[in-house]
Amino acid sequence: MIIRPMDGPFGAVAEDVDLAADQSEATMRALIAALHEHQILAIPGQSLSNDLYVAFGRHWGTPLNFFIDSHRRDDHPEMIRIANAAATPERYRDGAMHWHSDSSYEEVPASVTMLYGVEAPEQGGETLIASTVQAYDALDEAMKARLDGLTGLHCLGGSPPLPGEKIPFNPESTAANGIRKHPLVMRHPVTGRRALFPSGTLFGFEGMDRDEGRELVAQLRAHVTRPEFVTSYKVGVGDIFLWDNFQVLHSATPIDYSDEPGKRRLLYRISTKGIPALCEAAA
Ligand SMILES: [Fe+2]
Repeated sequence: MIIRPMDGPFGAVAEDVDLAADQSEATMRALIAALHEHQILAIPGQSLSNDLYVAFGRHWGTPLNFFIDSHRRDDHPEMIRIANAAATPERYRDGAMHWHSDSSYEEVPASVTMLYGVEAPEQGGETLIASTVQAYDALDEAMKARLDGLTGLHCLGGSPPLPGEKIPFNPESTAANGIRKHPLVMRHPVTGRRALFPSGTLFGFEGMDRDEGRELVAQLRAHVTRPEFVTSYKVGVGDIFLWDNFQVLHSATPIDYSDEPGKRRLLYRISTKGIPALCEAAA
């Protein structure tokens, strides 16, 4: 197996690995280390059964249950379907088209998310990724000191969108879904590296005036998504693409909802909580 840097400001590609034949400890250790170092990791050229994909997912932590039942496979509930069929109801379209970390509206957010490409459209379908570790490192010391002690307030649907973002702001959902608290500056559970955690669900801070909080949220998102911290990846057929939710934010980009050949997309997502068992053993 070869790990090489991805084109762009961060990320890595693992080549010459066949996960259908090899999910050995040595291979998994190398892949886990690559993701932790490079924040995002692509593993192209895979051909995995559902059982083997879920087995691969379990190496990264405990697969989480997604909140929309209809997006999960009945036979493999760990696998979340991401598709663009023309029949997709409006309420399920473009739900990921805003900057976020996965499951940040839950008490334990997702640590790693992976996508496996089964079908890919010829045009569109890129995922944007912003480095929250590089954005944190770029802050001056006074700003780091100010942000380090803040506790972020998160809620599904609770955060007002930035211009161009589609997620609707629904103040009532804050009450309906409950508020979760996460440190604004997260320490990575394995490497200890610090990163900002301004997921799309962040709407304010403990002990801070609401307007002041909202302004800081907008300021942080604008900082994290500066062009020098952002890259993109398009998941092709046979690609597995992983990101570390404690080191990056991500956003989907617009896609056509179509059943036509060349326009269809089918990805299977698995998100995990906790740290890889191999890292627990080493700790
Ligand atoms: Fe997401």
